[in-house]
Amino acid sequence: MARILVTGGLGFIGSHTVVELVNAGYEPVIVDDLSNSNIKILDQLARIIGYKPDFYQLDLCDEPGVKKLAESEPDIAGIIHFAAFKAVGESVHFPLKYYRNNFYSLLNVLNVYHEQPVNFVFSSSCTVYGQPDHLPVTEEAPVKTAESPYGNTKQVAEEILKDMVAAGSNYKVISLRYFNPVGAHSSALIGELPIGVPQNLVPFITQTAIGKREKITVFGNDYNTPDGSCIRDYIHVVDLAKAHVAALKLMETANFTGYDVFNIGTGKGSSVLEVIYAFEQTTGVKLNYKIGPRRGGDIEQIWGDVNKSKNILKWQTELDLDTMMLSAWEWENYISQNPL
Ligand code: WQD
Repeated sequence: MARILVTGGLGFIGSHTVVELVNAGYEPVIVDDLSNSNIKILDQLARIIGYKPDFYQLDLCDEPGVKKLAESEPDIAGIIHFAAFKAVGESVHFPLKYYRNNFYSLLNVLNVYHEQPVNFVFSSSCTVYGQPDHLPVTEEAPVKTAESPYGNTKQVAEEILKDMVAAGSNYKVISLRYFNPVGAHSSALIGELPIGVPQNLVPFITQTAIGKREKITVFGNDYNTPDGSCIRDYIHVVDLAKAHVAALKLMETANFTGYDVFNIGTGKGSSVLEVIYAFEQTTGVKLNYKIGPRRGGDIEQIWGDVNKSKNILKWQTELDLDTMMLSAWEWENYISQNPL
């Protein structure tokens, strides 16, 4: 079976991708420094896939350590690179921490496998678009000046990968621009594990619903949208995980060469208030929320044009917003009763 290195593989999206890799007949090799993940997710994965995947605890900024990893794992057919710091707000306060970690880790991994043909999937983000001029946003939309150092690390990383391929690299590369990943695996054994107070909407909703948080603040309802609250393209994390398998499959075909980029979303926008209502309708849990001031750095509305993913990546989402809410709620209930 083809061995696929999954950096950041114990994280929210990484762990769900490990499951889909096994389902597709690949052999994932997880690398994670545990700076934003929990080692117990390895046991949770074993309960889902039936065996404990190979795991290396390693900070990818440790260049000698990454060289040792490549000596231990010479036969890597693909790499899915999730490992990065990803808190938008934190990146504004600690830019050097973000530039150092996100670039050193990427460059160290690329450096140790560049002499062999490897299919490389990069975890990018719709944040590269900023506030698009036209919606739905296509992959051809101009990349705008990043709103945060975090967003800038995604933009620059895409440029690094494009330049590397243009220089005649053995790598084939696909960048996946995620919209907003939410929800959890149907087993409720893995899901989003925010450290401290959740920054993102859906974990804040589920923690409020279970009583961990007193109420949700809707960050502004005076935007130029139908109900005044911001619009995002929320995508079920399992659909997102499957897009990584589709990217590996596409790069395994003879006619794929070089570098490409795909929007990974549903193609539909949902407002903050619509997400709150969807949660209440599907779970029957009434949410306590108030309207507060806008959050700095938020864009007003974005959702993806996903035709390129459908037609070329041969991938599209299957799970709807209600399923996203229900699975997130089931995970919140599980983790509250079974803390890792
Ligand atoms: C969604 C909407 C908030 C919390 C960020 C990153 C993106 C990716 C996902 C890493 C916004 C509103 C939120 C709350 C609220 N991260 N909100 N009350 O900001 O779209 O995307 O996280 O890859 O790159 O930019 O996601 O979930 O934080 O916010 O009203 O308590 O929910 O204002 O409109 P965001 P989010």
